[in-house]
Amino acid sequence: MVTKWLITGGCGFIGRNLIRNLLEDGNNGIRVLDNLSVGSRDDLNRVCDFKESSPETMSISHLSAQGVELIVGDILDEQLALDVAEHMDVIVHLAANTGVTPSVENPRMDCVTNVLGTLNYLEAARIKNVGRFVFASSGAPAGECEPPIHEELPPHPVSPYGASKLAGEGYCSAYAKTFDVDTVALRFSNVYGPLSTKKDSVVAKFIKLALEGKPLEIFGDGTQTRDFIHIDDLIRAVRQAGSIEGIGGETFQIATANETSIDEIVQMLTRLFQQLPEKRNVTVQYSASRQGDVKRNFSDTSKAGKMLGWRPEISLYDGLEKTINWFVKTQTGGVGVF
Ligand SMILES: NC(=O)c1ccc[n+]([C@@H]2O[C@H](COP(=O)([O-])OP(=O)(O)OC[C@H]3O[C@@H](n4cnc5c(N)ncnc54)[C@H](O)[C@@H]3O)[C@@H](O)[C@H]2O)c1
Repeated sequence: MVTKWLITGGCGFIGRNLIRNLLEDGNNGIRVLDNLSVGSRDDLNRVCDFKESSPETMSISHLSAQGVELIVGDILDEQLALDVAEHMDVIVHLAANTGVTPSVENPRMDCVTNVLGTLNYLEAARIKNVGRFVFASSGAPAGECEPPIHEELPPHPVSPYGASKLAGEGYCSAYAKTFDVDTVALRFSNVYGPLSTKKDSVVAKFIKLALEGKPLEIFGDGTQTRDFIHIDDLIRAVRQAGSIEGIGGETFQIATANETSIDEIVQMLTRLFQQLPEKRNVTVQYSASRQGDVKRNFSDTSKAGKMLGWRPEISLYDGLEKTINWFVKTQTGGVGVF
């Protein structure tokens, strides 16, 4: 039987990697809901052929035939959420304000998009009886605390983004307990990998700057730490969360459990860029730390190991190498090379 996935924010970095992976199986139909504020039709087209539809022309038979359908719209449109959720087996809710900086600049926008947008899709899951709801959360709800972060730590968000993602986790828990909706919240750490060209996260930004011959800008002194996960490992976790029984209402840290400083990332990138056929020298420039950024961050992933049967497999060095190769190939016209 074909599993029908509704992916909000499916034109973005994580969404397209998920689509690419689902299509490799040949047993999945995919509906994408995206307002194209970040991702585009061309971006989606890099990973699949798709049919664009409206709520009036959507077709379940297209999904049952393992097709991909794009509906352009906003997660704040309540009626649209109900329409697109009809007949779906799994909702993966990725569309969001995705960063700390925009949330500091405009906390209301961040709250409306991330809290009400999530509520709309939880409501859609409840009313349309969707079997599973996977929510893209982040390490940000935990906030400033002594790492490793784990699911039972009291959350202390530092940024509005952390607060809005925490609210999303809260609603997921409430919908599981009150309405029996099978929700799973995944707290993604810092994700990197192919298709991240539009991302402003550390690895993507550093690779783009290094390829342009520009200095890598480090906010703060470079000793701040993060937990970097390769997209392929993360996608396996999303798929497990979308299918395993008996995990409704749970939250999981999806990370590598390794703590890496920004300086260490720079050292690895410097080595890898030196090994390229066209060697590149990496230079750095330090600026003031950003508001809302935490000093140390890495996660304990043992709960995901036990309940999802999931473990990260790609080392940071190998993952960075793959990612640099992807960026280089893409830059030289190798569209779609992974
Ligand atoms: N990338 C990471 O490192 C990371 C880490 C932690 C959590 N997350 C979470 O994972 C999810 C996906 O992240 P990503 O890196 O793929 O982001 P992305 O920006 O690449 O993709 C998000 C997509 O959502 C769409 N979108 C944004 N607002 C929308 C709205 N109001 N209505 C409909 N569509 C909308 C955008 O057009 C874009 O295509 C987000 O919820 C993000 O907060 C990502």
